Amino acid sequence: MTEKQSAPLILALPKGRILKALRPVLLHTGLDPASDCLDESSRRLRFPTANKDLDVVRVRSFDVATFVAYGGADIGVCGADVLMEFDYPDLYAPLDLGIGACRISVARLKESAAEAPEGKSRLRVATKYPTIARRHFASRAINAEIVHLHGAMELAPSLDMADVIVDLVDTGSTLKANGLEEIETIAHVTSRLIVNRIALKTRPEEIGVLIERFRSALLSST
Ligand code: PRP
Ligand code: MG
Repeated sequence: MTEKQSAPLILALPKGRILKALRPVLLHTGLDPASDCLDESSRRLRFPTANKDLDVVRVRSFDVATFVAYGGADIGVCGADVLMEFDYPDLYAPLDLGIGACRISVARLKESAAEAPEGKSRLRVATKYPTIARRHFASRAINAEIVHLHGAMELAPSLDMADVIVDLVDTGSTLKANGLEEIETIAHVTSRLIVNRIALKTRPEEIGVLIERFRSALLSST
C-alpha cells in the first residue's frame, strides 16, 4: 500500500450559500464532519469526520474545482459555473446535487440608452467569469474586453467601467438593488459532486462508496 492510499480521502466543500444548501444533504450522508465545519466563523479549514479515512476541507466555492483538479482534495462539491469557467480535464462530475440553483446571466443598466449588446462588435464586460464571458460573446461575434473583478461587479456599469456584467443571478435582488436588468441567460447552474479522475482510478471502492452516500442522501433529503 502506498503512503497516499493510507492517507484519508479529502472532501472539499464550498463556503457560503452552497454550504448552507448542502447542510440537509450532508446530514443524510452520515459523514458527520466536526460541527465547526458548518460554522463559517470557525477559522479552521480542515475537519475530521466520523470516519477516520475521510477529512473535509472548507474552501472558497470558486476554488473547489482547483483543489480537486490538482489532487489536494479527492472529491468535492462545486457549482456548474465554476466547472464551466475552468473546464479542468481531470475532473469527473458524476452527480447533479440539484442544490444552489441559479443562472449565469448578462445584465446591463436598466433602461440603458446604450445600443443593445447584440448590435455591437465590441463590448466591455465586468465579470468574475472571464472564460465564460469571452466564449459567450465570441459565439455572437462580439469582441469582449474583460474587466476581471472578484465581486461587486454590479457597480461597474454605473461607474462607467463596463457596458454589461456577467454574473450569477439567483433571486435577482442584487441586480434590482443596483439598477440593473438581466438581458440574457448564458447557462443554468446547480451544484455537482466532482471527483479527481486519478483518485477514482486509484481508490475506486472508497470513492464509489462516497458517491453512493451522496446519491442516497439526495433521495432521503428531498
Ligand atoms: C452572488 C452573485 C450576485 C448575487 C446574486 O454574489 O455574484 O451578486 O449573489 O444573488 P441574487 O440574485 O439572489 O441577488 P454573492 O453575494 O455570493 O457574493 P460575491 O459576488 O461577492 O461572491
Ligand atoms: Mg455578487
